[in-house]
Amino acid sequence: MTGELSPIDKAKFVAAKRAADLVEDGMRVGLGTGSTAAWLVRCLGEMVRNDGLKFKGVPTSSRTAQLARDQGIEVISLDEARWLDLTIDGADEFDAELNLIKGGGGALLQEKIVATASDRMVVIADAGKEVETLGAFPLPVEVIPFGWQTSQALIEEMLVSLDVMGRAATLRMNGAAPFVTDEGNHILDLHLNRIGNARQLALVLNQVPGVVENGLFIDICDTVIVGYGDGRIEVRDITEGTVERDRLDFVESENLFTDIGD
Ligand code: 5RP
Repeated sequence: MTGELSPIDKAKFVAAKRAADLVEDGMRVGLGTGSTAAWLVRCLGEMVRNDGLKFKGVPTSSRTAQLARDQGIEVISLDEARWLDLTIDGADEFDAELNLIKGGGGALLQEKIVATASDRMVVIADAGKEVETLGAFPLPVEVIPFGWQTSQALIEEMLVSLDVMGRAATLRMNGAAPFVTDEGNHILDLHLNRIGNARQLALVLNQVPGVVENGLFIDICDTVIVGYGDGRIEVRDITEGTVERDRLDFVESENLFTDIGD
């Protein structure tokens, strides 16, 4: 990326930068996927190279693994790590209870496994991701390719009896072909508009044959770090019930702000 960052990118960056300070020597850390998580990996890479930070990263996608290695971060698998001190990831939506919709980048399966295997999950997000009720963002559901249209039909039928405002399930595409996840699966995006009972929906979706996992993260996230375009940061912790406010002076460093991508 070159030139001036947009306010949303600045917001993502300050949230990521604040979260990077939570990583300490010797930790095993889950590294999320997406554009906000990419800022985090960049910040951590800089801390490894410049400050001698020593930690092991468990990426949640092949994209993040590549970026982390490029940044000089030591990458290990979840099986090697077994359990993590911390996972830091982005989100597509979060509500006041810190329940989330994730999977906009198609990595929800690894993201949910890694976050669940962590002592603490911290979400980093720009303020636009906060919602009163989850569901405006289409809910990603990972399905195996075999019989995906049957899974789609079963999901749409099941949604009739649930507290949602829409029930169209569309196959995510990558150009002319179906999108394929790191596990070789497809994604159905559920256009629900409003999810009345996210906890119930998360449980019921995973009962449908062919569904591997859904993008509702219920009671998994402990802390959200919200970034604003003017450098303000809010750290909200659901277990402690605390809100800390801070501001990060925004200095564009050449190395960090070139060729960023997710
Ligand atoms: C990837 C995700 C991402 O965390 C989510 O889509 C947010 O992405 P971004 O930080 O680019 O807005 O769940 O599967």
